[in-house]
Amino acid sequence: MIRYLSVAALIAVGATVAFAQAKGGAAAITERKAAMKAVGGANKALNDMAKGDVPFDASKVAAAYKAMGDAFAKSKTLYPDDSMTGDTAALPAVWAKKADFQAKLDKAVADVKSTAASVKDVASLKTNHAAFAKATCGTCHKDYRAPAKK
Ligand code: HEC
Repeated sequence: MIRYLSVAALIAVGATVAFAQAKGGAAAITERKAAMKAVGGANKALNDMAKGDVPFDASKVAAAYKAMGDAFAKSKTLYPDDSMTGDTAALPAVWAKKADFQAKLDKAVADVKSTAASVKDVASLKTNHAAFAKATCGTCHKDYRAPAKK
């Protein structure tokens, strides 16, 4: 029992250290990719439901949009100046047009909220989520994310 407790305590300390270090450079890149991966995972869960591959579940819809909103809000601190280069797909425009990029993250948080509130069933999920993804994800990626390597 004591051993289990100390392992848990160590993990807790490790998580705190990782968070504290996530201020600049490579750590920020790692964290923002993880945040965007969480957005991608939530997006996939919603698309699977919209397609009917997974049964519609209002609580899962709410959880997916919450995860997305949290990740967008967190992303605001994950593009420090010393993280412009490295293993990242973020374009230099993120730093050249900082205010616009931050505003797009704010808008993404707001869009997530309004889309989540507008989804009542599979039909509304299908229509409203597709519109949200096109406008919110697509608009930012077009200007700020390097296209996927072929
Ligand atoms: C405000 C801008 C912005 C918005 C909005 C946005 N993204 Fe991104 N996204 C980025 C940037 C910038 C990167 C590149 C991050 C990097 O490589 O450092 C990225 C990377 C990604 C990645 C790759 C993550 C990885 O593994 O490296 C996925 C997946 C992704 N976005 C999905 C989405 C989806 C889905 C949405 C909409 C629900 C979305 N994004 C909305 C800016 C945005």
